[in-house]
Amino acid sequence: MPFVYEGDYSFYLEKALEAYGILDKETGAGNDFLGWKHLPSQTPESLLKQFEDIRDEWLQAGVDTVVVIGIGGSYLGAKCAIEALSHSFQSRLGRKENSLDVVFAGNNLSEDYLAELLDLMLRRSVATVVISKSGTTTEPAIAFRLVRNFIEDRYGKKAAASRIVAVTDKAKGALKKLSDTEGYRTFVIEDNVGGRFSVLTPVGLLPIVLAGHDARKLLAGAAESEKICSEATEDNPALRYAAMRNLLYSKGYKIEMLVSFNPKLTYLGEWWKQLFGESEGKDGKGIFPASASFTTDLHSMGQYIQDGERTLMETVVSVENSGRKLMINTDPENLDGLNFIAAKRVEECNRMAELGTRLAHIDGGVPQMQVSIERVDEANLGGLFYFFEMACGISAYILGVNPFDQPGVEAYKKNMFALLGKPGYEADAVALRERLPIGF
Ligand code: PA5
Repeated sequence: MPFVYEGDYSFYLEKALEAYGILDKETGAGNDFLGWKHLPSQTPESLLKQFEDIRDEWLQAGVDTVVVIGIGGSYLGAKCAIEALSHSFQSRLGRKENSLDVVFAGNNLSEDYLAELLDLMLRRSVATVVISKSGTTTEPAIAFRLVRNFIEDRYGKKAAASRIVAVTDKAKGALKKLSDTEGYRTFVIEDNVGGRFSVLTPVGLLPIVLAGHDARKLLAGAAESEKICSEATEDNPALRYAAMRNLLYSKGYKIEMLVSFNPKLTYLGEWWKQLFGESEGKDGKGIFPASASFTTDLHSMGQYIQDGERTLMETVVSVENSGRKLMINTDPENLDGLNFIAAKRVEECNRMAELGTRLAHIDGGVPQMQVSIERVDEANLGGLFYFFEMACGISAYILGVNPFDQPGVEAYKKNMFALLGKPGYEADAVALRERLPIGF
């Protein structure tokens, strides 16, 4: 509150209530993309059972590794959940019972990454889930070519079909067509759910189930959040968050950092950046979303946050309880001088680091919001997903942009296709090459 006036906050709360009304009545821009609003309460149990059946079938067939192919909204939700819910050293400890080792591909164009993925696949028994709403995105399409080729070569075309599942549009796109021709099982991303709002569809839920996590609990947590975040009152936390970040934006705080003191939530920051960046960054407007993992990044970004240009605001995702208990031991020599914290939990040090950092950043001129969860588990993560999605919709409407389109994403694709020699892009290629150093 030292950063804003109560009256300004009330004004933005009114705006948030208005924006929520638009979202609720479905009268705003992009209103044909609101299918995500009722996913938690309306996802049928039978869908989760189908995911579990695939996991069990693959386990019985001896599959140990699933390559999940996708980019952007077709990747980040599952990656975030699996990182948050898994043991930090799972891949080195070996596979958990009743789960598959999920690795990701199709989220970059690195030759090294893909070649190294093939190295891994040679040593594993592999299946793949290819996820693309449009069915035409280049990065996942290239990865899928390579992975499919590998699987067909190794297991034969017929057996390969049982090791490939596609998540895509119900009717359109190359992936749907190929799946129908080859007999791959498919799951649908409905037309009214955009990529970055799709974590609670098969896009996120299937990989999460394959990795051995409980999608029922995730959806139950999201359903709880759906109730709380659908109230047209100031008690709605999504509304309060959307109001405050827009108020701060209007005061010149142009960058929002999502930070957490739990490294399990590092990828929550990646998912959140896409959600808000792609939804709000348009028409020359939008808060720039950034993220950091503390205390790690206090030793790299901490200086800037404390003392750099004062355009930063922070949203701290606090975790009230850690999943494990670990006491700091006494050291008879006490050379590091830390015996004063002996017999304390590591978690207590982390909590004091969090409180100390928050106060220091406020003193340094960084306004702060806090989102608190009880612990990192399926239910709380589901709750966070829904909370941020609803907040994003409200926030973008306050800002006056359509949260559900992404026209700017096309620009790099057009140039890339032209430079790669795609038919139809010849004139663009000539114009681009004139701007590049000779030899390109
Ligand atoms: O949010 C979005 O719509 C995008 O980030 C997409 O998820 C991303 O571009 C991948 O698209 P697709 O699922 O069509 O391959």
